[in-house]
Amino acid sequence: MPIPEIDLTVYPDECDAFGHLNQASFLTLFERARWEMLARGPGMDVFTRHGAWPAVRKAAIEYHAPAFPGDILRFTHVLPHHGRTSFTMRQTARRSRDDVLVATAEFVFVCIDREGRPTPVPREVGEYMNARPSLPGDMRQVTVNGLNLAVDVRGSGPAILFVHGYPLDHTIWEPQLQALDGWRRIAPDLRGMGLSDAPDLGYSMTTYADDLAALLDALGLDHAVLCGLSMGGYVAFEFLRRWRGRASGLVLVDTRAEPDGMEAKRARDVAAAQAREKGAGAIAEAMLPKMFAPSAATTKPELVERVRALMAATPVAGIVGALGAMRDRPDSTTLLPALTDLPTLVLAGTEDQITPAASAAAMATAIPGARFVGIPGAGHLATLEEPAATTEALRSFLSTLA
Ligand code: MLT
Repeated sequence: MPIPEIDLTVYPDECDAFGHLNQASFLTLFERARWEMLARGPGMDVFTRHGAWPAVRKAAIEYHAPAFPGDILRFTHVLPHHGRTSFTMRQTARRSRDDVLVATAEFVFVCIDREGRPTPVPREVGEYMNARPSLPGDMRQVTVNGLNLAVDVRGSGPAILFVHGYPLDHTIWEPQLQALDGWRRIAPDLRGMGLSDAPDLGYSMTTYADDLAALLDALGLDHAVLCGLSMGGYVAFEFLRRWRGRASGLVLVDTRAEPDGMEAKRARDVAAAQAREKGAGAIAEAMLPKMFAPSAATTKPELVERVRALMAATPVAGIVGALGAMRDRPDSTTLLPALTDLPTLVLAGTEDQITPAASAAAMATAIPGARFVGIPGAGHLATLEEPAATTEALRSFLSTLA
């Protein structure tokens, strides 16, 4: 659908003593044109529906020609920049009767939640204005199963596929992505998280695993070592159920094979309701204290804040979808003894409060030939909390595969 042009009439009360459209009134007309343009597309409530408010960070306006009462101004809109939580809108106003350029303006917006924290730009805004979030650094967009995944791909060599947990994104692997030379490191944002598309529906362990298989296809890869953290481990188990032959190794980090019990299932539903009502920021607040070793708040405050911001920027649709997928995930304990001939490493932070190291060690003993390594001082995010020890354990495991 093309972005509609908006016609607005100049009224006398918007003009100065000489009858020129007043400069402050221009700002009002640009704003009215933006809302009218959105009203004819995703709806004037597109931001409030997503618990996001577009706060203006910068406004720049140039006046090229005067406008007078009775003139009809025609406004056009483009989105030259679309980031994760910010976007830039460029607008022009032309006199409709002779197409004279009257004014141009550029506005930078940051979407914030009710607590004033940055929150993702609603997907429909970018879709309507035909713009996608720009991807940083080594990231590329790969289309799988009808949606776009943002994927970090680095290096060359045998492939290792990193699958992040909830409600996070590929950046939890940053130290490993940087360090593991000699491997093709592939780290997608799962659907609904990070910079990947976040459809309203379509979340399950099956669809996450299908996305990963389609991603390998799109990258021309038959095999990869699967490396999943927490929910990423649940996805890895589903991948193995479906494409065991495509995994050349397995690394399970801070995860478990058991399904949710009744109480955990109920907690997923409560969290989903909370995400819908209060947004991703509330989920981040609730989860943050459990994500790290207890001492992290004082010893690693910057890391804790970074992860808080990462969680708070996760689209609500992705959070709700992941909670449902985790609630309904099957029991993977029966899969473990069948993982013969699959080189496996199980890693766990010794202070993990979500998936305790003792149960990770027990999981390792159930997998034939698996090795267990505890990461001292790390909680649930060993990859970031103790990056050197985690990377070293991974490197040493991967060297046995070569
Ligand atoms: C995760 O880190 O992926 C989640 O905490 C896993 C879970 O809630 O079961």
